[in-house]
Amino acid sequence: MSIRFDESNRLFQLDTLNTSYVMGVQDRFGYLLHYYYGKKLGQRDVSYLARTNEPPYTPDRNEREKLAFLSSAPFEYPTGGVGDFREHCLEIRTQSGFNALELGYQGFRIYPGKKKLEGLPASFGTEAECDSLEITLEDSLLDLQVVLQYSVFRDLDVITRSVRVCNRGGKEKVIYLTKVLSACLDMDNADYSMLTLHGSWARERRMQYRLLGYGRQGTFSERGESSHQEHPFLALTSPNVSQTTGDVYAMHFVYSGNFQAQAELDSYDQVRTVMGINPYHFSWKLEAGESFQSPEVVLVYSDAGLGNMTRTFHRFYRRHLIRSPWRDRKRPILINNWEGTYFDFNTDKLLDIAASAAKLGVEMLVMDDGWFGNRFDDNRALGDWYVNEEKLPGGLERLVREVNKLGMKFGIWLEPEMISPDSDLYRAHPDWAIQIPGRKPGLARNQLVLDLTRPEVVEYVWGRIRAILDSANIEYVKWDMNRQLSDVGSAFLEADTQGELYHRYVLAVYELQERLCSTYPNLLLENCSGGGARFDPGMLYYSPQIWCSDDTDAIERLSIQEGTALIYPLSTMGAHVSVCPNHTVGRVTPFETRGHVALAGTFGYELDITKLSEEEQREVTNQVALYHRFQDLIRSGDYYRLASYRENHQYDCWEVASEDGREALVTFVQVMGRPNNFHSRRIKLMGLCPEAEYLVEESQQIYGGDALMYAGLPVEDLWGDFRSKLIYLRRVDR
Ligand code: GLA
Repeated sequence: MSIRFDESNRLFQLDTLNTSYVMGVQDRFGYLLHYYYGKKLGQRDVSYLARTNEPPYTPDRNEREKLAFLSSAPFEYPTGGVGDFREHCLEIRTQSGFNALELGYQGFRIYPGKKKLEGLPASFGTEAECDSLEITLEDSLLDLQVVLQYSVFRDLDVITRSVRVCNRGGKEKVIYLTKVLSACLDMDNADYSMLTLHGSWARERRMQYRLLGYGRQGTFSERGESSHQEHPFLALTSPNVSQTTGDVYAMHFVYSGNFQAQAELDSYDQVRTVMGINPYHFSWKLEAGESFQSPEVVLVYSDAGLGNMTRTFHRFYRRHLIRSPWRDRKRPILINNWEGTYFDFNTDKLLDIAASAAKLGVEMLVMDDGWFGNRFDDNRALGDWYVNEEKLPGGLERLVREVNKLGMKFGIWLEPEMISPDSDLYRAHPDWAIQIPGRKPGLARNQLVLDLTRPEVVEYVWGRIRAILDSANIEYVKWDMNRQLSDVGSAFLEADTQGELYHRYVLAVYELQERLCSTYPNLLLENCSGGGARFDPGMLYYSPQIWCSDDTDAIERLSIQEGTALIYPLSTMGAHVSVCPNHTVGRVTPFETRGHVALAGTFGYELDITKLSEEEQREVTNQVALYHRFQDLIRSGDYYRLASYRENHQYDCWEVASEDGREALVTFVQVMGRPNNFHSRRIKLMGLCPEAEYLVEESQQIYGGDALMYAGLPVEDLWGDFRSKLIYLRRVDR
C-alpha cells in the first residue's frame, strides 16, 4: 500500500517511488494540516512541521490568538470566513446570506485502484498501479461534508487530488457553493519562481518564469475554455532549476473551462498554491442530499529538474489519461485542406488533392471547414450541419467512397458547439444561443455559442453528429471551437443557477465527447480550438491528439511545441507541414525543416499538394518514409529537451530516446546562421546507457554513451537560416 495512516499521530503518508506527501489532524480543533511534500521520507512522525506549538499561536493551550493560527497554519484544504485571510479553496453562501465555513476531520477510507469522477475526465489506474484515499471533513453547523480525494500512482511520482462537496441537508436546505478549488499546497518559500505557460492565438503555451513576489499571482481563464492566453498549469521551481537540476512542484488541471492557478506569498514567507475552477461568475446550487464533484489536479514533484517532471507527465498521460485505442497506434499521415483551399473547394478539388497525396504516401484526407449549409465564408451557417450539395454533389457518401477508392481514409471538420446568427438554426431557435436577454451579445468570428445547458440543444447537436458520421465511412473528426464565451446567460436557467452556466457548458462538451467515443470507439478524434486554445488534459481524455496551433510556421512552432511538450507527450501534438511564405507570419523556411519540426507531433500536411513543385513532392515522399521509420520511437520514447532557441536565440534541439536507451533521434534546428563558428557545437545527449557504444548513422562514427552524454556529440553548423537535421543513433553490441 502506498498510503499509510499512522493512528497514534493521526497522520497520513502518501508514498510514490521517489516522493512523499504527508498531512495530519491537528488535535484540538481537528483541522487537517499539510506537513510535507517532496523527496521520499521514511515512515516517521513529521507533525512537528506544522509548528502548532510555536507562539504566538498555541491552539492546544488557548484560543486567544486563533486568527493568528488560522491565517498561518498550513491547511490541507482552507475555507473562508472564519479567519484564514489567505486564498481559500471552498466558499459558500447560505440562504440567510452567511459565508463562514470551518472544516473538522471526520474520518477516512483507503482502497486500492481509483474510482471514476462522475461526468468528468480524470486519470485512471488499476489496483496494481495506484491506491486511493478519501478524507472526510465536515462543517457540523451546516452539515456540509467535504471529501478530499487522493490517488497515488506508485511508480510514477504522481498524486492526483479532487474534492466532493455534499450538502447533507441538516440545517440548510440549500447551500450555494461560490468557489470550489481542487487542490492546495502550503509550503515555506525557498526563493521559488513560478513557471506558467502563456500565449495568444498562433502563439500558444510559451514558457514564462516569474520570481514569486508578496501577494497573489497566477494564471487564470475567464474565457469559458482553458484558452490560448493562459494554461491550467503552474509549477514552483527552485533558483537552480534546469532540465536536470532543481526542485519542481507542478500542478496541472484536468479541466477545459475557466480555471484559477495561483501562488500566494504571505507575510510569513509561506507560499500557498491553489488550483481549481475559477470562481469568476461561479455559483452552484446544492440542494439537500446533492453533491458537487470538482475536477482533478495532477501533482508532480521532481527533485531532478524540469526534464524529469516532463517525462513523468508524459508517461502519466500516456498510461493513465488518454483512453483512445489510437494512443499506442501509428496515426495515419493526413492532409488537411484548410490552408490549401480555405472555403474554396468542391468534391473535384478535394479528390484532386487526395489523388496526388495518395501517390506520395499520404494516408488520410481531412475536409476542413466549409462543407455544410451556406458556408462559403466564416460569417454564417454554423449549426446547419447538412451537406452543401453545391460543393459536394452526391454528398459525403460519394466523396468518401471516392477517397476510400484511392486507398485513403477520410476525416471531417466539425464545430458542434457553435451557432451563427445567420443560420437556419438561429432563425428557428434564437434562444439556443448563450446571451443575456435584452442585451446584444458580442460576436467573435461572427458567431455565438450554443447554450449547452439546454438538454434539447445537446440532443440536436448529438443527432447531427450521428447523422453525419453514419452517412459515410468517416474515420476521423476534427472537433473545433472557435470563439470564447461572453455575455454568459441562458434563457433556460433560473436566476439562482445562472452561475452554473460556465461549468455546465464544459460538462455538456464532455458528455457529447463521451457519447462520441463510446458510440464510435475506433474513431480518431482530434480536438481543436482556433488552434490550441483547448489543449488541456481534460480534452486528452477524449482525444489522443489536439491541434497544437494555427501557426504552422516551423520557427514559431519551436517555442509553441517546446511549451506544449513541457507537459504533453509528442504523440498528442497536432503538427503539419504547410506552404511558404507561411500564411501566419510570412516566413520562408526550407521544406525539410518544416518536415523535421512536424515530425515531433502527429504529422501531416496542411496545403494544396497539387501545387507543390516536383522537388517538394519528392521531399514529401522522403518525409513520409521518415515518419514511418521514426513514428514508433517518437510516440513511445522519452523526450529530452537539449537546447532551447527561446534561451540561446540561435538553435533548438530535442531528443527522443527509447526507454531502454537502445536508440535515439535528435532533432537540431539552427534558427539563425552564425558566421565564423570555428568548431562544431558539442551537444550533450541524454537517456543513453553510459557504458554502451552508439553508432551515429549519418557519420557512421561510433561513440561511447558516456562521451555522448557527458562531453557531447559534435554538431556542425548548417549554412543558412532555418536549417535543420535529424541525427539517428543506435546502440551497437559487440
Ligand atoms: C480554426 C482551426 C483551423 C481551421 C479553421 C476553420 O481556426 O484551428 O485549423 O479548422 O478553424 O474555420
